[in-house]
Amino acid sequence: MKVIVVYDSMYGNTRKIAESISSAFDGTECIKTLHVEKATPEDLKGFSLIIIGSPTHGGRPTPAVHKFMDNLPGAVKNDVHFASFDTRFSVKEQGAGLRFLMRLIGYAAEKIDRKMSEKGYKPVVKPEAFIVVDKEGPLREGEEERARNWGKIIEGKIALHKGENVTEQTPLHG
Ligand SMILES: Cc1cc2nc3c(=O)[nH]c(=O)nc-3n(C[C@H](O)[C@H](O)[C@H](O)COP(=O)(O)O)c2cc1C
Repeated sequence: MKVIVVYDSMYGNTRKIAESISSAFDGTECIKTLHVEKATPEDLKGFSLIIIGSPTHGGRPTPAVHKFMDNLPGAVKNDVHFASFDTRFSVKEQGAGLRFLMRLIGYAAEKIDRKMSEKGYKPVVKPEAFIVVDKEGPLREGEEERARNWGKIIEGKIALHKGENVTEQTPLHG
């Protein structure tokens, strides 16, 4: 399996999560971790799993992540999977007003999931969130380990379905 993790990061927290996720794929044929500004659609050729992560900025992925997805060709084959993640504040730790606003505007990972699905890529898992304590970090304790475990879950799901023709009707979600 060839896996690529593409991420953006302003303060380094999403980069740390991306690296932890990548570390779960130590045993695979090829694992590449790229900052989104260094990643081109060419880099993705031949990869069967694309993992995309972004900090949440105003309820959305960063402009660089948007641009990257806009430039991606639509998936032509049924066997290119993806997973999306973001970093964000914990909604539970905010006051009522901010909680309402955060829920209203949403988060980056869900929007990456939607966009990649529209392009024909197949989701392996539900979008995942990793929590930062403050705008510049740090990550909440245990998030890097959780990210590695999340990577292992994805690896397991892909291995389970290897060789199967995973269609829109039988997503790997769950
Ligand atoms: C301009 C800006 C907008 C942000 N908007 C949100 C937001 O809407 N929801 C949220 O949970 N966090 C928000 N944050 C906090 C980011 O999620 C946090 O800075 C990010 O996870 C840190 O990741 P990084 O170190 O990779 O940049 C915002 C941060 C910035 C700088």
